[in-house]
Amino acid sequence: MTLFSDDLFERPRRELAPGATLVPGWLTLPQQSWIVERFREWAAGPVPPHSSSVAGHQMSVRTVCLGWHWRPNVYSREAVDVNGNRVLEFPEWMVHLGRRALIEASGDPHAGDEYTPDTALVNYYDEGAHMGMHQDRDERSTAPVVSLSIGDTCLFRFGNTTTRTRPYTDVELVSGDLFVFGGPSRLAFHGVQKVFPGTGPVNCGLPRGRINITMRVTGLS
Ligand code: SIN
Ligand code: MN
Repeated sequence: MTLFSDDLFERPRRELAPGATLVPGWLTLPQQSWIVERFREWAAGPVPPHSSSVAGHQMSVRTVCLGWHWRPNVYSREAVDVNGNRVLEFPEWMVHLGRRALIEASGDPHAGDEYTPDTALVNYYDEGAHMGMHQDRDERSTAPVVSLSIGDTCLFRFGNTTTRTRPYTDVELVSGDLFVFGGPSRLAFHGVQKVFPGTGPVNCGLPRGRINITMRVTGLS
């Protein structure tokens, strides 16, 4: 056992662009495995994980939503493209976690005061899964997106607000990492190039694959 993990020194917090901050190793392993337990409950809930189709192509990730159900371009309370069931409520603990995430990423103790995320897209990536470059633009609110990663490491690409191409920055998102993008980066293109199988920590609760949670404010009522 080392007192400080090497990661803490090798992967310092990093601003990838104005308003876009990566905080490595924010979630502890017990927190990660607790969230993975919740993920199993969500996946067994009223709406099973589902792969959406975007422009005729089925996505390789499987998604379960909380609060509001996302399908390309539209949020609704019922998963009309899956089984018609209403999605689970957005958990109160996740509102608080989202607020703490904004405080952590910005260093401003009041950064979370106005933040009440009301939807989360929980994506599961198996070893071949990826996500093409896209913007998160189906929300009416410009509030930041809070992203949490658990399980296998991935290669994440964070770009600019005007094109899917350069300039962009490639970074690894590792189990426990927090990434927040808001302000001038809120509509930046981003995607997951690749997942590295078998790289997740043994005690994160996920024996294979990767989970990513993005919390958002829909601006809907
Ligand atoms: C997303 O863009 O919705 C997911 C990003 C990620 O998996 O890290
Ligand atoms: Mn996205």
